[in-house]
Amino acid sequence: MASQDKSLSLALPEGPEDWEKVQSRFFQNWHTSIDTAFDSISQLFHFTSDTMNTLNRYQKDNLNLYFESTTRPIEANETDNKEQDRVKPEKKNLTDVAIITGGIGGIGTAICQRLSRDNIKIVATYIGAEKEHAMEWQQARRKEGMEVDLFECDVSDFNACKKTARAIEKLHGRVDVLVNCAGITRDAMLKKLDEENWHAVMDTNLDSVFNMTRPFIDGMIKRGYGRIINISSVNGQKGQFGQTNYSSAKAGMIGFTRALAVELAGFGITVNCVCPGYVATSLVDAIPDHIKQAIISQIPAGRLAQPAEVADAIGFLASRESAYITGTELAVNGGLWTG
Ligand code: CAA
Repeated sequence: MASQDKSLSLALPEGPEDWEKVQSRFFQNWHTSIDTAFDSISQLFHFTSDTMNTLNRYQKDNLNLYFESTTRPIEANETDNKEQDRVKPEKKNLTDVAIITGGIGGIGTAICQRLSRDNIKIVATYIGAEKEHAMEWQQARRKEGMEVDLFECDVSDFNACKKTARAIEKLHGRVDVLVNCAGITRDAMLKKLDEENWHAVMDTNLDSVFNMTRPFIDGMIKRGYGRIINISSVNGQKGQFGQTNYSSAKAGMIGFTRALAVELAGFGITVNCVCPGYVATSLVDAIPDHIKQAIISQIPAGRLAQPAEVADAIGFLASRESAYITGTELAVNGGLWTG
């Protein structure tokens, strides 16, 4: 009896401090186990729901072939269930992959940071001439704790986009979110605008949206899920002095968005535009100061937007919660244009 009492007293903590340590270790272990269990369940849930959606899609495709029907009316409960089935587990969105063209630019960087915070894997593209900056940019993101893949791609070149899309899908197996953000300005009044600067802006800002979106939609359709977000501009909505090229391209993006939204709504894919106003980036910094001040004085919010404020809008449209929003132009412009 005596020896039993001794071993018991050795095993038990002696004072209140020891008790607290034992208690806190117990709770720590408890939380770690629960977290691990939740992570596994959430991954399993995500995987199962993806697989079921793919199977469903194939089954429906086969039925369509069988009945020789190319257009199939979508039943109300079918679309309801599809997105409900895909509601992400509360904790994490573990497997989504996003590609952000122009991801190393001012707004692009903020988008990468925001989507990365939402646990989406990030792939950013850049143009060859910016290689050095791109490498520094990647280092800077790594220091922030982000894992970002970089791909060199000239978005104005359809074949380059096709090749890049194939390489990214091979690497990650999927692309769920496409953000078309690459863009340039070549401002001049039309009477001074040359052909080269017209085409440069149309190619980089508008053709790029076709070039990049076209190769990705097949995979999205097969998986029955996708988020396509085109970064247009307030100047595509209202028109801007000195920007016939840019305003045309940005307005074109809006038309593209509306048309594609209608085509893809039945496949669990949303297509939206975000239309930023004037944002504190190098693009706006390049505007001559007196003109910039005149522009800011017309913004009801009285200031430029921060890139993160634009990125937050994109974060929402890239999430699973935005499933029923498609074909829209989300204005982030401080009241500059409310048309
Ligand atoms: N509305 C009406 N008149 C204007 C005007 C405007 N917004 N801006 C300039 N003008 C007038 C000038 O007062 C001037 O008139 P006078 O000849 O009577 O003096 C005339 O037009 C010529 O103006 P400039 O001297 O500025 O002409 P320029 O050829 O040197 O420059 C410009 C033209 C490059 C277009 C220049 O005005 C400019 O940079 N404007 C800003 C354009 C702009 O807002 N770009 C946005 C870049 S950021 C971006 O695009 C991101 C986004 O999505 C918002």
